Amino acid sequence: MGRAPLIVFDKVWKTYGQGEAEVRALAGIDLEIGQGEFVAIMGPSGSGKSTAMNIVGCLDTPTSGRYGFMGTDAGRLDRNRRAALRNLYIGFVFQGYNLLPRTTAAENVELPLIYRGVSAHERRALAMKALAEVGLEGREHHTPAELSGGQQQRVAIARAIVTRPTLLVADEPTGNLDTARSHEIMQLLTRLNGEYGLTIVMVTHEADIAVYAGRTIAFRDGHVASDTQKIEAA
Ligand SMILES: Nc1ncnc2c1ncn2[C@@H]1O[C@H](COP(=O)(O)OP(=O)(O)OP(=O)(O)O)[C@@H](O)[C@H]1O
Ligand SMILES: [Mg+2]
Repeated sequence: MGRAPLIVFDKVWKTYGQGEAEVRALAGIDLEIGQGEFVAIMGPSGSGKSTAMNIVGCLDTPTSGRYGFMGTDAGRLDRNRRAALRNLYIGFVFQGYNLLPRTTAAENVELPLIYRGVSAHERRALAMKALAEVGLEGREHHTPAELSGGQQQRVAIARAIVTRPTLLVADEPTGNLDTARSHEIMQLLTRLNGEYGLTIVMVTHEADIAVYAGRTIAFRDGHVASDTQKIEAA
């Protein structure tokens, strides 16, 4: 016990615009997420989920309050230091996959390793391993156009984990997938959480997707409306 949580929101506010036009996207969020947790973020459209995820992923900073990540005051770091934190510790998966077109699965997965200065030979080996982990053996040289939606999301997940991040930030990772493919992606994320202790913070609109997480936090109007731990069947 006594280990500092991976993620700490301490009275985090995020406002956009000023005066009449001011929008309170986050209105004083307090939250702690420990290393190895698998958390689902739910809530209506406009409730602040993506705003919170952008802060969690060190893409954005609070207007006021403190965001702590891995013991650092990440909300007060400059752009370059936040980029360094992301590069070292955070993987991202989005609804739209965000793969480079006309670029093979293996090349897409290698990208974050280029920024880390990993040699071409080692990059290819690590990319092949990550693609195997997400069940894409034999598809390494296909371009996104030659892959199904579920397969494209697997490539995006391989790209996110190839650097062995501490945290995976996933904003509606199954938003573009049919039910069967969505459950396959959730089984994959559950396995990565269990096998590597990968901490996952995931936004979803669907209750049957959220149940894969150990904890569900519901946002409402920029506040935490509920925070529920899954009760494991005995
Ligand atoms: N860059 C921005 N400039 C101005 N307002 C913004 C900006 N980003 C978000 N907002 C506003 O902040 C509020 C929260 O937005 P956010 O994207 O976090 O919602 P969300 O919960 O992710 O919604 P959805 O389920 O639709 O994705 C909304 O009212 C939105 O209009
Ligand atoms: Mg959103």
